[in-house]
Amino acid sequence: MILVTGGAGYIGSHLVMALLEKGENVIVFDSLELGHIETIETLKQYGTLKFIKGNLKNLDDIRGVFMSNKDIDSVVHFAAYSQVAESVKNPQKYYYNNVYGTLNLLNAMLEFGVKKIVFSSTAATYGEPVYTPIDEKHPQNPINPYGNSKLMIERIMDDYDRAYGLKSVRLRYFNVAGADSKSRIGEWHEPETHLIPNVLKATKDKSFKMFGTDYDTVDGTCVRDYINVEDLAKAHILALEYLKNGSETNYFNLGTKTGNSVKEVFAVCEEVKGSKIPLEICPRREGDPATLVADNSKAKEELNWTPVNDLKYSVKTAFEWEKVLNK
Ligand code: UFG
Repeated sequence: MILVTGGAGYIGSHLVMALLEKGENVIVFDSLELGHIETIETLKQYGTLKFIKGNLKNLDDIRGVFMSNKDIDSVVHFAAYSQVAESVKNPQKYYYNNVYGTLNLLNAMLEFGVKKIVFSSTAATYGEPVYTPIDEKHPQNPINPYGNSKLMIERIMDDYDRAYGLKSVRLRYFNVAGADSKSRIGEWHEPETHLIPNVLKATKDKSFKMFGTDYDTVDGTCVRDYINVEDLAKAHILALEYLKNGSETNYFNLGTKTGNSVKEVFAVCEEVKGSKIPLEICPRREGDPATLVADNSKAKEELNWTPVNDLKYSVKTAFEWEKVLNK
């Protein structure tokens, strides 16, 4: 049995769908503060899914999950706050939820003898890039509390491995994009801050705001590595298998090794939508590095993972999902 924290959220739900379609039994633990019960209802149609509402900040909530489900053998941990700007304004929220919440999860795992975890880490743990593409040897110097909180957890996991034999795979996501290929689930944040959904949501009355056109990049806009959410889900399944095979703690970048500028993404969105999208050029958004592109060779070699879906496919699935959300 696999426990997925944050399985009602964007990325977590895509992993849960992939696990259910593989015939795995899954428990989702989610506070539903940011995740959606509708997502859980949809997922339940595709396999054996038990949903437990609870908050990682309450040790008893997560202890109870292990107490009443003794067959949990591994955990995939998504539950976290993930907005960079919010983390700068309210670091307490990020450290308390992301770090303390994870400590509670790890306490409960150790108490019940569960020693395998796949963890959602982020490119934000690298901070301002000193070279590109970024490989796993790149220094980790986060520049905001969100990235700090994720790096702290990575460090805690290393110490827990040395002391208690807890094995972890930390997956450092670059920019996750797209939705389920059958439009059953997708990206659903309130408020939405991410590029692709914001471009697709733009209307005459609420034009898309492009943050910064004076960066030192190919066309002046920020360059990011957009990794398809279903490709990302597959990497988690491979990471679970990797741990089941008795492999050691490890960490991998998940990206495509291809960078796309905000202007390029905008053009793909217009192409997929088949119409002009209202655009407003705005000043830079604070804290955005010019370029973030992953060197994904390590995940390819050691996890045997190859992303297959390109940016256009991600935008197409995101566009189809927007239609479902607007129904
Ligand atoms: N952007 C816009 N307008 C918008 C939204 C975004 O111009 O309405 C631009 C941003 O300024 C940035 C690019 O589009 O240049 C991508 O922005 P996103 O907000 O989609 O993604 P980020 O690169 O800021 O953040 C992502 C994850 C974070 C993670 C970070 C790692 O969402 O959780 O990558 O660096 F921390």
